[in-house]
Amino acid sequence: MPNIQILPSLLAADFGHLADACRAAERAGADALHLDVMDGHFVPNLTMGPDIVRMARRSTALPLSVHLMCSRPAVLVDAFLEAGADLVLVHVEAHDDPGALLERIHAAGRRAGVVLNPETPGHAADPWISETDEILLMTVHPGFGGQSFLEHVLPKIASLRARAPAIDLSVDGGITQTTAPACARAGANVLIAGTALYRAADMRVELERMRAACAAAWES
Ligand code: DX5
Ligand code: ZN
Repeated sequence: MPNIQILPSLLAADFGHLADACRAAERAGADALHLDVMDGHFVPNLTMGPDIVRMARRSTALPLSVHLMCSRPAVLVDAFLEAGADLVLVHVEAHDDPGALLERIHAAGRRAGVVLNPETPGHAADPWISETDEILLMTVHPGFGGQSFLEHVLPKIASLRARAPAIDLSVDGGITQTTAPACARAGANVLIAGTALYRAADMRVELERMRAACAAAWES
């Protein structure tokens, strides 16, 4: 079975000090760093381009998980691979078919995953279970940090975990000390948290607490 991993999401960091924020995640014991790429079209917000991923690559040795919330990921994916993404996540709701994208990401020697919005049925991930390294189930509507967790995604986590026992199954959005263990109990092993970790008084303490609670829930 896969291990519990905790990833701070850089979207919630102070954009005046992003390199420090990357180093802070590493110091806090994070397993990887999550970067949200939004194109102002797939979601109504604009965030990070390849230069931010390049900056993160220079600032930390942590693996970089790059979440493409973009209508046309095929146009952008190479730039993010060149910038140093270790894992690239593409939405099944985007215009480009995930199959060719996953092949391109793997051909570059990186990990590849698909993402499902909260309202997308879990079975939309089924064709990709054997093609991907990770499946991300959004637990908020993508576009902004600091939103409330959508409880109705929990059964989708459990049924996908039953169909894909060995895959890295991640959750993103509204992940807190309360919702993280609920997701782990349902079968998620990768927890992505922005506000809860970057706005904490001490990220290391908060991250260790989240990891311990998820590990206990995961084994229960
Ligand atoms: C939302 C992003 C998330 C976001 C999570 O569209 O994909 O990664 O940073 O932020 P929190 O943890 O604050 O909900
Ligand atoms: Zn994200």
